[in-house]
Amino acid sequence: MGRPDAVNIVILGIETSCDETAAAVVARGPDGRGTILSNIVRSQFDQHKLYGGVVPEIAARAHTECLDDIVAMALREAGIELAEIDAVAAASGPGLIGGLIVGAITGKALALAAGKPFLAINHLEGHALTAGLTDAIAPPYLMLLVSGGHTQVLWVADVGQYNRLATTIDDALGEAFDKTAKLLGLPMPGGPAVEQAAVRGDGTRFKLPRPMLGREDPHFSFAGLKTAVRTAAQKSAPLSAQDVADLCASFQDAVCASVADRVAKAMSSVEDKFAAGAERPFVVAGGVAANQALKSALHAVAQRHGFTLYAPPIALCTDNAAMIAWAGAERLARNLTDGLNAAVKPRWPLDPGAAPAQGAGVKA
Ligand code: KG4
Ligand code: ZN
Repeated sequence: MGRPDAVNIVILGIETSCDETAAAVVARGPDGRGTILSNIVRSQFDQHKLYGGVVPEIAARAHTECLDDIVAMALREAGIELAEIDAVAAASGPGLIGGLIVGAITGKALALAAGKPFLAINHLEGHALTAGLTDAIAPPYLMLLVSGGHTQVLWVADVGQYNRLATTIDDALGEAFDKTAKLLGLPMPGGPAVEQAAVRGDGTRFKLPRPMLGREDPHFSFAGLKTAVRTAAQKSAPLSAQDVADLCASFQDAVCASVADRVAKAMSSVEDKFAAGAERPFVVAGGVAANQALKSALHAVAQRHGFTLYAPPIALCTDNAAMIAWAGAERLARNLTDGLNAAVKPRWPLDPGAAPAQGAGVKA
């Protein structure tokens, strides 16, 4: 085994920003194409389940306990020695500081031991560039990131150049799914549970608000929708299984209508940035991209506006280290390396110059 032929960059990536401990080895060829040589993800779901959310201290400790093994597994599965790696990339923000420190220090130590450069990767840049790895999509493109912590529309002008066109002014979309599941007594993670229940539900039964519909700016809001679900649930209590299914379907319909409207606004604002006749890629990533109803709604809005929807496989849409390694490869190819003194940043917007959205809380 060893280093594959016809590659000019091989990167070890590390991801520890939330509750997944992950390591991966990714190669980048001279043609700019990527190949995943290994991609190990260990979820801490069971450790946090009892508390109904991610506990930062437990997360950091769990990363410490298993990261060495996960890295060793990633190298072994790739059939590659540490000495054959060109650089080590670690997610260095945004995220939970304890986990970020564990991943960044491990990455720096490995880089130092191997005598190779270190890359401090913005986790959001990992998500933003994944389509280059999975579908060979090169910037510029429009992207929607919908996860438990983020809801953003980004204009990806180039590697390292992002304009945040839209964000949520309150809850992230995944958070809204999770909170809705919780208040309806469904298991965590809430998104898949809500989607499953919605399959048997009537989405027209409860008249829920379509947040931000028609607003000039493309921002999102989900807190009011979640409250409307709570109010509707209280009115119908005690809830039968059919009530829960109908509430889930109604919630999901409202989400799809709102997100499609917001994305359409963002699409209109970037249409003139594409050359005439050029393909207009629209990439969706993040855990909520697993939702089939949302994907259909996004596909329809893309078609109406002359965009092509790209949805990377779900294992690469959710948190993983292959996306961190790939962002590292893209940056190394442009000589954008970092020193061993690179800081971890719990808050690290991809577009620091973006104006705050009106009403936006700390998460924006
Ligand atoms: O990207 P991700 O795995 O982790 C981070 O937030 O960083 O996203 C997790 C989020 C959770 O809120 C989860 O409920 C949501 O994605 N999710 C879904 C679905 N699968 C996962 N939401 C709606 N429908 C789904 N099928
Ligand atoms: Zn993420």
